[in-house]
Amino acid sequence: MTTIGILTSGGDCPGLNAVIRGAVLKGDTVYGQQFVGFLDGWRGLVEGEAIPLDRSRVRGLSHEGGTILGTSRFGPFQGPNGGADNIARTLERLDVDAVVAIGGEGTAAAAQRLFDEGIKIVGVPKTIDNDLDQTDYTFGFDTAVEIATEAIDRLRTTGNSHKRCMVLEVMGRNAGWIALHSGTAGGAHAILIPEQPESIEQICAWVTSVRDRGRSPMVVVAEGFTLPDMTAAHSTKGLDGFDRPRLGGIAELLAPMIQERTGIETRATVLGHIQRGGVPTAFDRVLATRLGMAVTDLVARQRWGHMVALHGTEIVEVGFDEALVDHKSVPDHRYREMRIIFG
Ligand code: F6P
Repeated sequence: MTTIGILTSGGDCPGLNAVIRGAVLKGDTVYGQQFVGFLDGWRGLVEGEAIPLDRSRVRGLSHEGGTILGTSRFGPFQGPNGGADNIARTLERLDVDAVVAIGGEGTAAAAQRLFDEGIKIVGVPKTIDNDLDQTDYTFGFDTAVEIATEAIDRLRTTGNSHKRCMVLEVMGRNAGWIALHSGTAGGAHAILIPEQPESIEQICAWVTSVRDRGRSPMVVVAEGFTLPDMTAAHSTKGLDGFDRPRLGGIAELLAPMIQERTGIETRATVLGHIQRGGVPTAFDRVLATRLGMAVTDLVARQRWGHMVALHGTEIVEVGFDEALVDHKSVPDHRYREMRIIFG
């Protein structure tokens, strides 16, 4: 009988619990696999801290946000018990045969290295940012877009009442997917994304033309957006657990610039972690469940070093190495398509 240890690593994401449920239910039903969950991401694997996961533990989980296993930005090579050799010994001690790592780019990179060093590991891609290559969508993204779109709808009514320009900052790290999709769905008058710097003059021209039509301008900005004279995305909060700059605050920077140049009273809202919390959308529950079920096939077929992914409407497998070659940015044509109707 194969025992699989599941972990969720990196920023949490609506749909993680649906993956865990999908894996446990199919693994048990089809392959007779057993499951444990490592707590708080790689930390649980490194420290050997695991809980049993059986059918009763995952019952009714698909609509629950967050992750029942906890997560962290702790890396598997960190600390005195980290590294592939130690982890192999820990897996043996716990009688765990294979690892399923659910995570984003940092998790896939760490999983690839562990695989190279002999660990039997497969993965499930997750991130609200939707920036992982080799998968058309990641679960969590649709939920984040829904929440951001609702925020735009709400900001629009208060903006209209006061005749203000409203600037909404959304997450996404160095990818503009959440901003592009929510801004499009919410009918924003300008969408600013990391892949496409825009000048403050251009932003103000869009804002002014909206005001001149008697409307209240709505600007959606991704946290990683830069003005042409900025050398890096706005970051004043130090580094995260993977040593990447913590982004955020660009809306607070832009709002006074817009107000000063256009004379339009402007307010900034930073949506923050609200877009990562709460129940997943139906789309994300379905995708997450299918990915969780499919990852049990990878284990049964011993496809170590691979992760499940969405291509079109089909679940497929791709190597961690293939997924790590590129970062999935918003392509130029997708931005140009929407830019035509800004202002
Ligand atoms: O990668 C997901 C994400 O939510 C990014 O969009 C954001 O920049 C980051 O994580 C925030 O991380 P933390 O939860 O550590 O503040």
